[in-house]
Amino acid sequence: VNQLFVEPKLQGQHWVVTAGPTQEAIDPVRYISNHSSGKMGYAIAQAAASLGAKVSLISGPTKLEAPSGCKRISVTSAQDMHQLAMELAPNADVFIACAAVADYRVAQVAEQKIKKHEDAMQINLVKNPDIVADVAALNENRPFTVGFAAETQDVEHYAKGKLQKKKLNLIAANNVAVQGQGFNSDDNALTLYSADETIPLSLATKVELAQQLVKIISDKVSDQK
Ligand code: CTP
Ligand code: CA
Repeated sequence: VNQLFVEPKLQGQHWVVTAGPTQEAIDPVRYISNHSSGKMGYAIAQAAASLGAKVSLISGPTKLEAPSGCKRISVTSAQDMHQLAMELAPNADVFIACAAVADYRVAQVAEQKIKKHEDAMQINLVKNPDIVADVAALNENRPFTVGFAAETQDVEHYAKGKLQKKKLNLIAANNVAVQGQGFNSDDNALTLYSADETIPLSLATKVELAQQLVKIISDKVSDQK
């Protein structure tokens, strides 16, 4: 078969992917963040685009170049990522939350650089909105919704808990306590959980895993239709 005449599998679909860390400002020169590199989310966006999907990549600050064929929209804070996700998700077929969203933000961001005074200081934090849970809770035009679970212990228990609590279609769990996989690494191993299935994806590059994951999601989406 001449490849040119094979219609790309995801032609006509819109996929939205969140990736990277968020940064939560403390004052004009400081922030709270995490070690997420964005590699997994970017690889997923790239894999979906390669199969013909229109891809919107909502990205926190990373050092990565925008994947080809994707529309990257850069954000800084969890609140900005949440706002954009809620705008785009109702027009999406698939929503994949790969971002390492800061769970808390600073309650009152200082307008001026905070000065050093006492030997100890406190910063009050408030919870950020749960982006993937809010997308999964959409009543109308809800996309097929996929979350990630980065855990350091009891991976299956916590991942299945998140699948249920956030009402996701699928969750991809990884054990970030294992050296050489997860945060900031080029490789990863994932276990996918849906309500009735467990699918292990063994250690591979994030690019390879992203391709496998995108195929599995696209099969599940076409089963639904
Ligand atoms: N997530 C999100 N918005 C948040 C927090 C998390 O969309 N404010 C998404 C992540 O992108 C991921 C999933 O929720 O797809 C699980 O994130 P994780 O940090 O593992 O779980 P939490 O629900 O935040 O719970 P905890 O950090 O306590 O394990
Ligand atoms: Ca979290």
